[in-house]
Amino acid sequence: MEGRDCFRDGNKLYFDWLAVCIRVLYLDKREESFTMEICFSKRAERIEEGIFTILNEKKEALLREGREVFNFSVGTPDFRTPEHIIRAMEAACGEPENYKYALTDRDEMLDAVRMFYKKRFGVELYREQIMSLYGSQEGMAHIALVLCDPGDVVLVPNPGYPVFGMGPELMGAKCVGYPLYEKNHFLPDFEDIEEDVARAAKFMILSYPANPVCAVADDAFYERAIAFAKKYQIVLLHDNAYADIIYGGKVGKSFLSYPGAMEVGIEFYSLSKSYNMTGMRISFAIGNEKVIRAFKKVRSQIDYGIFLPVQYAAVAALTGPQENVLEQCRLYEERCLALCRGLRKIGWEVPDGQGTMFVWAPIPSNYTSSEKFAVDLAEKAGVIVVPGTAFGSLGEGYVRIALVYPVEKIEKAVQKIWESGILKA
Ligand SMILES: Cc1ncc(COP(=O)(O)O)c(C=O)c1O
Repeated sequence: MEGRDCFRDGNKLYFDWLAVCIRVLYLDKREESFTMEICFSKRAERIEEGIFTILNEKKEALLREGREVFNFSVGTPDFRTPEHIIRAMEAACGEPENYKYALTDRDEMLDAVRMFYKKRFGVELYREQIMSLYGSQEGMAHIALVLCDPGDVVLVPNPGYPVFGMGPELMGAKCVGYPLYEKNHFLPDFEDIEEDVARAAKFMILSYPANPVCAVADDAFYERAIAFAKKYQIVLLHDNAYADIIYGGKVGKSFLSYPGAMEVGIEFYSLSKSYNMTGMRISFAIGNEKVIRAFKKVRSQIDYGIFLPVQYAAVAALTGPQENVLEQCRLYEERCLALCRGLRKIGWEVPDGQGTMFVWAPIPSNYTSSEKFAVDLAEKAGVIVVPGTAFGSLGEGYVRIALVYPVEKIEKAVQKIWESGILKA
């Protein structure tokens, strides 16, 4: 045997032996661990797969049957990310230095947020009042770590965007829902919140234009909210995800533009919907410096900073042309009107929405359950919507319809609903 072969055979023997050892030391134990009973946390067990999984399965089943499906359930915009944002991201991706840990928010990005807030909302900011997040979803999921101890009370809207309740609950807080009723234009009645709950509450989440109820708030509402927060020492968190999707010629404002807001709270401003950057995962928490400092401290233990090319894309979005944002708002309004008017024409009484990329539709009078109606609508018309109960108990009686198709396709879906006969059943 030549020396090299001898070496190769020696190596082979060594690797065979190593493989046996690995199997004995690791794989066998792994097999053992398959029989181990894993005890999950009560928090994890509280999370249910929920209606979104069921709707997705329904959609897949309809597609397998060769049916035409109109998926109005997900809030992912169908509009393109503006070209200048993609170019900025591309250029930054070409720089090897940008693949390192970002660690912090770049000053360029913080200054872009400052300039944007001044120009767009008339709000003056310091860099210390701004921090980035991997989307407002992530921010809402973690904020209770900053403001609450286990068992602390927080006020969340019912119906509301799911992470408003799920985030604090996962962090051990106790969520108390404040009701949003149609008769109150889906605004909370601060007088109605019980005194002991108000005294115990650490923070309250507000969000207008509102997902899923599609309402907007006026100046008087924000003034009342700030007075309430001051009276009971409650931090206000305003999610402004739909600041740029508001109809009827209105212009979305920032919560921080109201006197006293900076003392009592912070705002989440996401680039996801305004600039169609949902997948890039970037938004900002902005406002009260003490809250932002504490939030940064907590997040520094979780994360090493937003991917630098995403930070450069955010700069391009905030400092670049804003025509796309306005045009897209116009298109959402057109879609909203096409859907609501179309549904009314076929006998389904749906009021026009006021903002967001959704329509909040009361279920037809021949139904009493949102889930039953949503399932029937999928089966009979191939139209998939989210039952209101996915957003809280007071969502019963409604479904949420996402405006993610052009007008022609919306009209086709309305036609399918009519033809299905579901409104007469
Ligand atoms: C009210 C509201 N907040 C936050 C988000 C998520 O935003 P982001 O993509 O910044 O996590 C959404 C997305 O649908 C939303 O509707």
